[in-house]
Amino acid sequence: MREADREKDESDLQNPNHDPDHGTLNLDTVAKLSKGYRYVLEEIKKIQPPLPQVTVEVHNASVTARVPVKERGVHNLFTHAKDLLSFKRKQKDFDILKDINLIIHPGTMTLVLAPPGHSKSALLKLLAGQLQPTKGKVLWNGFDQAEGRQKGLRVEKLAQYVDQVDVHLPWLTVRETFQFAVDNAFHPAPYQSQALNFVHEHKVDMVLRQLGLEECENTIVGNELIRGVSGGQRKRVTMGEVMCSDARLLLLDEVSNGLDASTAADVFKAMRDWTDVLGASVVAALLQPGPELFELFDNLVLMRDSQIVYAGPRASVMDYFEQLGLYCPPEQEYADYLIEYLSHPDEVYRKQCKRQLQPTSVAKAMAMASGMGAVQV
Ligand SMILES: Nc1ncnc2c1ncn2[C@@H]1O[C@H](COP(=O)(O)OP(=O)(O)OP(=O)(O)O)[C@@H](O)[C@H]1O
Ligand SMILES: [Mg+2]
Repeated sequence: MREADREKDESDLQNPNHDPDHGTLNLDTVAKLSKGYRYVLEEIKKIQPPLPQVTVEVHNASVTARVPVKERGVHNLFTHAKDLLSFKRKQKDFDILKDINLIIHPGTMTLVLAPPGHSKSALLKLLAGQLQPTKGKVLWNGFDQAEGRQKGLRVEKLAQYVDQVDVHLPWLTVRETFQFAVDNAFHPAPYQSQALNFVHEHKVDMVLRQLGLEECENTIVGNELIRGVSGGQRKRVTMGEVMCSDARLLLLDEVSNGLDASTAADVFKAMRDWTDVLGASVVAALLQPGPELFELFDNLVLMRDSQIVYAGPRASVMDYFEQLGLYCPPEQEYADYLIEYLSHPDEVYRKQCKRQLQPTSVAKAMAMASGMGAVQV
């Protein structure tokens, strides 16, 4: 560290209100970290230089893979050997994603709902720049990945995809894992501002507290073979790793699996604070969000058969479906209804027709019982 910087840092320590460039931080209050994550983020916002905002645009993007065609007929040892020996197996195009049009604005939270195998992970990987479109394009702040690299915009750093499978270095403890993530994401401390140094030092503490991982911070993470933290805790470690970085777009793939409803809601409330205060964006694919979680999102993307069925504000989805004549039964949660509809649209429609018939038949029965005779149906 340069001598001049050290002197400046020392003067900051003596007088925390001194630094006009980077603002100040009430260290005592933040050290306790007791005023909640949102408060800490607001303090960080005051002292940190403004972070870039990312808008992702997907224009008519499709991703196609070549998959082998399964031959019809009886399979036996001979056909199997023939398959193995033949150089050219029959292949066909399979659409992993088809004609996707989507915009993700900064400061928003988007929920992706689709039945298993209907391309949630593929969509998130496309937004993270990990899956290349075979048709159409994906733009980050108006640039594709190659143009962005020339202009100094590194998509892999801005957009972080959190895999639905947890992969960690098994022998590191939870705290070491987070520290490793922080050290990789930021320039090494010390910084000129004493307040920024403080944030850097306490980032790991903040994330540990926010995810409720303090009691196992010194336990090794482990994996399928090495016993470490529990499955739900490991899932939170996966999320914490990206929260330690400075990503501006988080793509969370089924991260709530293995978490109880209240922990999942807590984690996503932290995400809500993060997007509101720092203008970052979150796109999350969830299998079964509870009502509390569902309400936290601004936008909704519904998918079926590799295509987008609905992409728009969460608050308008009910009107949209009702315009199409699809009504959620009062006893069912709306998110559950949407997933049920996406999985089995014909069955949901049949159930609804049955329900709509019922009031009429009840009215008919009551009228007959009260001696009014048959009513016109
Ligand atoms: N590289 C690939 N080659 C061939 N098919 C693929 C490839 N990647 C994905 N698929 C297929 O694309 C479809 C969507 O896969 P994807 O993993 O995105 O689904 P998902 O909605 O995330 O499922 P889940 O909820 O089970 O995680 C699946 O049918 C899958 O088999
Ligand atoms: Mg998936």
